[in-house]
Amino acid sequence: MSRLIIISNRVSAPKARADRASQGGLAVALSSALRETNGIWFGWSGNAVDEFSGEIATQVVDGVTTATVDLEEQDVDEYYNGYANRTLWPLFHYRIDLAEFDRQFGSGYERVNERFAATVAPLVEDGDLVWVQDYHLIPLGQQLRSKGVKNKIGFFLHIPWPPHRLITALPYHRRLVQSMLAYDVIGFQTAEWLESFHHYVERELGATIEPDGTIRVGERRVRAGAFPIGIDAGEYDALLETDDARVAFDTLKRSAQGRKSIIGVDRLDYSKGLAERFNGYRRFLEEHPDWLHKVYLLQIAPPSRGEVHTYAHIREELDELSGRINGEFAHVDWVPIRYVNQGYPRGGLAGLFRAADAALVTPLRDGMNLVAKEFVAAQDPADPGVLILSQFAGAAEQMRDAVLVNPYSRDEISDRIREALNMPLDERRRRWERLAAGVRSEDVHWWRKSFIDALTGSDMRGAAGVESASAES
Ligand code: G6P
Repeated sequence: MSRLIIISNRVSAPKARADRASQGGLAVALSSALRETNGIWFGWSGNAVDEFSGEIATQVVDGVTTATVDLEEQDVDEYYNGYANRTLWPLFHYRIDLAEFDRQFGSGYERVNERFAATVAPLVEDGDLVWVQDYHLIPLGQQLRSKGVKNKIGFFLHIPWPPHRLITALPYHRRLVQSMLAYDVIGFQTAEWLESFHHYVERELGATIEPDGTIRVGERRVRAGAFPIGIDAGEYDALLETDDARVAFDTLKRSAQGRKSIIGVDRLDYSKGLAERFNGYRRFLEEHPDWLHKVYLLQIAPPSRGEVHTYAHIREELDELSGRINGEFAHVDWVPIRYVNQGYPRGGLAGLFRAADAALVTPLRDGMNLVAKEFVAAQDPADPGVLILSQFAGAAEQMRDAVLVNPYSRDEISDRIREALNMPLDERRRRWERLAAGVRSEDVHWWRKSFIDALTGSDMRGAAGVESASAES
């Protein structure tokens, strides 16, 4: 098997075996591939220094090598807080109103991609497979090519690819997308994002799309496909057996005092639709007074990207909104929303998911959303909770048996909450069985294998949205 080199903005340092429960599913899956192939995970250390040195700090934990570099303060401002999180993130989540276009951000983004390429290129050996992750590093493939890297290089975008007309609002959009032609394989989460990408390259770059998913622009050929990411379902089962999970399960059950609980777990981000969710829940309380005192919403929302002002703003907005709803409806022995601004260990979350009667996963736009899959994996098969899922989450393409909702409509959220809380056991089981089967079969190992197969042999059979290719081969 070829050695794998993964490059991403953040590197999740592997944890010692005993500490795996606190590691994300993606990190677990990528770590196992890195371990098997003796590979390297390269990225930013998360530290800012006065001057960029390109010095690599390597660490080997549990058979996995990580290699990280520090960035300059200005890099962090312009590349990470700037172009990645104030330009691309909002734009790619259809929030052109929040996108900031600033020449400095663009040049910082190019500079950091160039720095990453210069630092990582000497580590790449013949036969290595290089796999670049996410929107922070779109032009990295081209930068690596300019440093002489001839290996197969793949790119996977974890967030949505926006419709053609939206992305044309980005200054130099053609240059950015053209740089992607340096990759051998480009992966998206869903057929929808892949289709938007096809539209773009057809209209803006004069590309033709062949039935097997190959994009042809002049002499250049690139494969593009949809590879929906999953969770590590096996690892999740083990997580449910941890003390953290058991304690969290018991705490939620005890504190619910027989009331129904609805859970939401999201990074505090405007794309997650939290204000709309709170307002939808409020509408439910208004419309169904019989449910007052009998249900509560537990919303866990750890703050993120605090240096970007839209994130500070959403935090204030939600503090106020949850306070207002609680002030209006609460009684001495009941609050309708328990709003928690801190992160939990994954085992604890697994226990909370299992204890909850329903989950509200209602992003306004999301590349995939793994909370939806984790909630399903955590359920008791004999008495599963109900997943209420936004039709605009990438996960909705696979999870058709969830209760799908338009996250912008308070009325719909209210109706779907009522439906979920009243759903009979046999229907809950029927839906859950189909959802769980999908979560188990299309897991993170399947995702990684499909992408790597596509990259090694340009075998696109694992990719969704290119059925014509698999039918022919
Ligand atoms: C999304 C992105 C990831 C990113 C994560 C957390 O899931 O696709 O690339 O790492 O958010 O955001 P942060 O800015 O804290 O890395």
